[in-house]
Amino acid sequence: QGWEGGWFILLFLCSLFLQALCMLRSMGIDSQLSQISLDTMRMHSENELPGKVVWVTGASSGIGEELAYQLAKIGALLVLSARRENELERVKQKCLEISNLSSKDIFVLPLDLMDRSFHEAATKTVLQHFGRIDVLVNNGGRSQRSVYQAIMELNYLGTVSLTKYVLNHMIQREKGKIVTMSSVMGIMGAPLATGYCASKHALQGFFNSLRPELYEYPEIIISNICPGPVQSKIIHNVFTEDLSKVLDNTGDQSHKMPTDRCARLTLVSMVNDLKEAWVSDHPYLAVCYLWQYAPTWAWWLLNKMGKIRIKNFKSGVFLLVTYFNLSEAKAS
Ligand SMILES: NC(=O)c1ccc[n+]([C@@H]2O[C@H](COP(=O)([O-])OP(=O)(O)OC[C@H]3O[C@@H](n4cnc5c(N)ncnc54)[C@H](OP(=O)(O)O)[C@@H]3O)[C@@H](O)[C@H]2O)c1
Repeated sequence: QGWEGGWFILLFLCSLFLQALCMLRSMGIDSQLSQISLDTMRMHSENELPGKVVWVTGASSGIGEELAYQLAKIGALLVLSARRENELERVKQKCLEISNLSSKDIFVLPLDLMDRSFHEAATKTVLQHFGRIDVLVNNGGRSQRSVYQAIMELNYLGTVSLTKYVLNHMIQREKGKIVTMSSVMGIMGAPLATGYCASKHALQGFFNSLRPELYEYPEIIISNICPGPVQSKIIHNVFTEDLSKVLDNTGDQSHKMPTDRCARLTLVSMVNDLKEAWVSDHPYLAVCYLWQYAPTWAWWLLNKMGKIRIKNFKSGVFLLVTYFNLSEAKAS
């Protein structure tokens, strides 16, 4: 009896030690260790991407726009989708300026993810243009404030709908990659982001279940990317009760990860076939580890942080600034 108790305590202490080591080693980096070392060692180089047809949704701003630039520089053939055609044309022009691609290598395809009736035709149009789709990057999406149906229609159902048509094509070819922009909020909960978290958890659940369903097609890769806060237009475009309204005050974004770093780590994850990648600065990355390995502590911590966030919100401080410093938050 005594020995068994001793072994149990020893194992418990070892697991605590390993968790602490893991957290300490991850301090000062902005994504998981595996990804950082892949980025450094370049185990699979980006030589895989030139000439590949990559369809990026949400390519008219933020992370999708930056991904388009980095993919263009590498020499990938691009399909750029979002609702605003003029913005997509702007992104296309810049892609042409910074790459060796020619106009026919970049196909602008306006697409509303919420209009699911168009997704089959859109997929056929891409196939008519390029003859194949090697990679689908499900990036288009918005955040939310008090809106639940629209956020699911866009982030979850819209993404699943487009994936379904592209996947049919990939199954025929027996290869392809589906890379989906989830979020750290697809892993953990976050106060005052219930709808957004739910939509990203739904995506994680869908793609993590789809992956094993595709066991007969080992060359179809499902990758979920989970960024923390990243500089983009996401706050400006947040869904509010008035779905078409945008926010003027988007707060200070300097504490967030630069867009080009997020896009770079997304590409690294894509070429290395990572199933899930956490792309985030601290403290969000540390909280991901806590959520994964010690959820009870994570729930406790989130309760504490949630109180601050909700107090800030009730006292009229801009919702989307940092959880941690009320005086900074008030100043912005
Ligand atoms: N920024 C962050 O902190 C962060 C963190 C984690 C995850 N993410 C995820 O990253 C993805 C990109 O967001 P972002 O931060 O780059 O924000 P963003 O700058 O606002 O870009 C969002 C993109 O989605 C497109 N979009 C919005 N509604 C659409 C619709 N109905 N149909 C088709 N496209 C639509 C927008 O284009 P149009 O308006 O032209 O349609 C835009 O190109 C999102 O899925 C977001 O949830 C962002």
